[in-house]
Parts: sequence; structure tokens; C-alpha cells
Amino acid sequence: QELQMNLEQIEKGGYDHFMLKEIYEQPSVIKDTYRGRLLPDEGIVRLGGLENHIEKFLNAERIIIVACGTSWHAGLVAEYIIEDFTRIPVEVEYASEFRYRNPIISSKDIIIAISQSGETADTLAAIKLAKQHGAFVYGICNVVGSTISRETHSGTYTHAGPEIGVASTKAFTTQITVLTMLALRLAKAKGTISHSDFVRYLHELALIPTHVEEALKTESKIKEIAAVFKDARNFLYLGRGYNFPVALEGALKLKEISYIHAEGYPAAEMKHGPIALIDESMPVVVVAIKSEHYEKVVSNIQEIKARKGKIIAVVSEGDKVVSEMADYVMEVPHTPEPLTPLLTTIPLQLLSYHIAVMLGRNVDQPRNLAKSVTVE
Ligand code: G6P
Repeated sequence: QELQMNLEQIEKGGYDHFMLKEIYEQPSVIKDTYRGRLLPDEGIVRLGGLENHIEKFLNAERIIIVACGTSWHAGLVAEYIIEDFTRIPVEVEYASEFRYRNPIISSKDIIIAISQSGETADTLAAIKLAKQHGAFVYGICNVVGSTISRETHSGTYTHAGPEIGVASTKAFTTQITVLTMLALRLAKAKGTISHSDFVRYLHELALIPTHVEEALKTESKIKEIAAVFKDARNFLYLGRGYNFPVALEGALKLKEISYIHAEGYPAAEMKHGPIALIDESMPVVVVAIKSEHYEKVVSNIQEIKARKGKIIAVVSEGDKVVSEMADYVMEVPHTPEPLTPLLTTIPLQLLSYHIAVMLGRNVDQPRNLAKSVTVE
């Protein structure tokens, strides 16, 4: 028993929980995921599993992404980036819905299955169904040799290393890293991105690990925010565009490990429902970084303030406008908008982690949840 405890302590590498260790591993595992694949100085991005099948992607009428949980959120981010960069239509489906709703699939469709474990039963069933209809299936998995990695026609591994915490963190950011490289590679081949933008994005992606390190430095401030709001019974998370999926993922993290009810919403949809919930006891986490939607998000914040909601905002470094309006801010470095989910996710992971720790929850093994869901 004692030996077991010591081993676990060693595995946690000095961190109190696997989840915190995994949050802090993100700069290095993002780098591991693009190493050898992203070569900014040479103007090259290549994914081994993609090069032999690139024609298939270029001729595809549609890409359908299937996944569950956090991997599904990575898929939503990918929808924005793949459509934006490549102009290929993308649909994102919950694997559990897709497999049972008699979906339209043809041999001109490409299925991208995203799964950390590579063992999720619903995702596996969705893949099998797509294969029966003659679609080409591309996998993005973390666990080498997993069932999904073997069932797919080709794919790319994320190099996140073992993820032990049930709440997914580093798997999510490495999935987005792979999907971003895939979008850039396809955009280059299709000619839907200019050479200068392409090279600029390669360089910006290579800077992400350093930016994540910066974002992690705000942990002590986030801990203070966690102490203020840990007893709230509900949270609302808002974001727009590329950061709408980040709002969903932020809310999911809080639910999973703190058991506080949280909802993620596209900021502009707030007026169609969630605004009714806002009063002085309602914390609202808003991703309000400098982006195309900045002004619009500012007016969403004004609407929340008018109803006395408490604003916790994720802002770009040096931000003035939102920082003055918000009750609390968490800063992230600047990066082009399509890459921002890789940064805005970080403070939200830390916020849910610290709230859960303060509430005495079992952070690494939350009740009722499993790391890998191999049954329906
Ligand atoms: C479970 C885990 C989540 C994960 C989801 C999908 O619910 O608790 O963290 O996002 O399954 O898992 P996968 O391994 O397919 O990414």
C-alpha cells in the first residue's frame, strides 16, 4: 500500500494531482505533437498519415468529424479552422447520435474520428458505419495501437503522452494542434491560403508552447478567483467564433471535476435564454480576447453587468476595455484568432482545477465518470 502511494507520488512528478501535471505538460506535449511535422523556416507542414491521401481530401465533398466529450469540442474548433482555411464543408457530430440516425454518408465523404483513448465505443461504432458506406476514415488518437487507430484507414497521433486525469486537458490542446496542421496542409495544397499567411501561421503555431507557458504563469491569480466563486451553484461560459467551443469545454471541465452546474453558450445566443438566469450571484466567464468579435462581446458584457452578473473575463495581454468592465480578468498572450483556443483554454482548465480542489473533490477521478467509455 505504502509502496503504491510512493509510486503514485513519483508519477505525479511533484504535482498534487495528475490533472495539474497534465495542464503544465501542455507546452512540451504541443511541441512533441508538431515536432518533425511543422517546419516554419522551410515553409513546410506535413503529416505522415495525410501525404499519401491528400488527393482524397482535396476531392472530398465534405468532412464529417465524429467524437465524444472533450474530443468533440476539439472537433468543433476544427470545424471553424478547416472551413475557414480550406473551404471544405465540415460537419461535427456526436458519435452516439451519428451512429443511430441513419446518416447520409458516401464515398466522397471523409470522416475524421477524434479520440484520446482510441477506445470509445460510440466513436468506434460511427467509424464502422462510415466504412460500410465507403467513406475514408482518418483517425486522430493519442493511444498508440488503440482500437480506433487500427480501425481507421490512416491518421495522425497526438503526442500528449499518457493522460491519467479523467478530465481531459493536454489531449484537447494536442488534438487542436494536429487539426490546425491538417487545415494548414490542406489549405496550402488547395491554394486557399496565400503563401505569406501560410508561413506566418506556421511560425505562430511554433510559438504556441511559449505562449502557453506565459498563460500558465497566471495560476496564482486564477487561484484567487477560484476562492471567490467556489461556492457558486451555477456558472455560465460564453465565447464567440473560434472561442465558442472553448466556452463549452470550459463549462464541461467545471462540471466534471467540481460538480457545479455550468453551461457553455455562444455569447450572442445568451439573449435567447440564459440571460434569464443572470443575477448578482451568477458568475459569467467570458472569453473576450482581441478578435473580430471583440466589440460584440463587449456589448454582451454590458448586458450581463446591467443585470448585476459577475464577469470573469479571459482577455488578451494589455487589454483595457474589457479589463475595466470585468470583475476579474485572466490574461493570455496575443496570437492570430484561429490559434486562440490553444491559449484561452488554459486559464479555464486552471479555474476548474482550483475550484474543485477547494471544494475537496476527487479531481483526478471524479464520481460517475470514466477515462475511457468502452460501453454504450
Ligand atoms: C470520457 C472522458 C472524456 C473524454 C471522452 C471521449 O467521457 O471522461 O474526458 O473526452 O470520454 O473520450 P476519447 O478517449 O474518445 O477522447
